[in-house]
Amino acid sequence: MRLHIAIDGPVAAGKTTLGNALAARLGILHLDTGAMYRALGLTALRRGIDTQDEQAIVDLCRKLVISVSYGEDGQHTFADGEDVTGQIRTPEVSRAGSMVSRYAEVRKAMVKLQQKLASETDMILDGRDICTTVLPNATVKIYLTAATEERARRRWLEMQKKGMPDTYEEVLQAVKDRDYQDMNREVEPLRQAEDAVLMDTTNMTVDEEVEAILKIVEEKR
Ligand code: DC
Repeated sequence: MRLHIAIDGPVAAGKTTLGNALAARLGILHLDTGAMYRALGLTALRRGIDTQDEQAIVDLCRKLVISVSYGEDGQHTFADGEDVTGQIRTPEVSRAGSMVSRYAEVRKAMVKLQQKLASETDMILDGRDICTTVLPNATVKIYLTAATEERARRRWLEMQKKGMPDTYEEVLQAVKDRDYQDMNREVEPLRQAEDAVLMDTTNMTVDEEVEAILKIVEEKR
């Protein structure tokens, strides 16, 4: 049986960092599913397509080929063959990714692609609907969260390192806005799956998170 670790949680809960650390420890791949919604959002922005226009976004999603590959530095995400990994972490693309993820047809296409990738190998997947929709039978299901202010602080520090000028207050507001949108959309809103283990990482280091999950993996196996 495949080893599938599903991690869901709100904005900047540390899902990607944790996913990468676990992938390194277990020697398996980590699929950052948010990057796929971001690649679609980025493409809409670049082509001047209004992210509020559901039909236009669904049309774009049908035509656009989103794919991933893995290198020494982890996942690379592609839109129509172009590596967009370096372009999808801006605040504008974060908002656009969240906007396009509201549409049922978009979600259907992304879920199908993610399920196909997961069926081929052992994998850690992180996102918003992995435990509930993408892999309801995952080996281990985690709902990762942390206090809103702590998540904003982590995201702000990350952005500072990249030389982005946003203030902590702006980042905090953006985190709250995106949480609201991800948790209140009509289609598959973010929620903790009933059988997911809740991990509040407000006072945890990444190493502690990894150890805690490895313990759960051991128990499940
Ligand atoms: O995890 P992230 O911040 O990179 O995700 C970007 C957006 O994509 C997020 O605001 C909501 C959406 N998303 C989703 O709806 N389902 C997923 N499995 C992953 C992300």
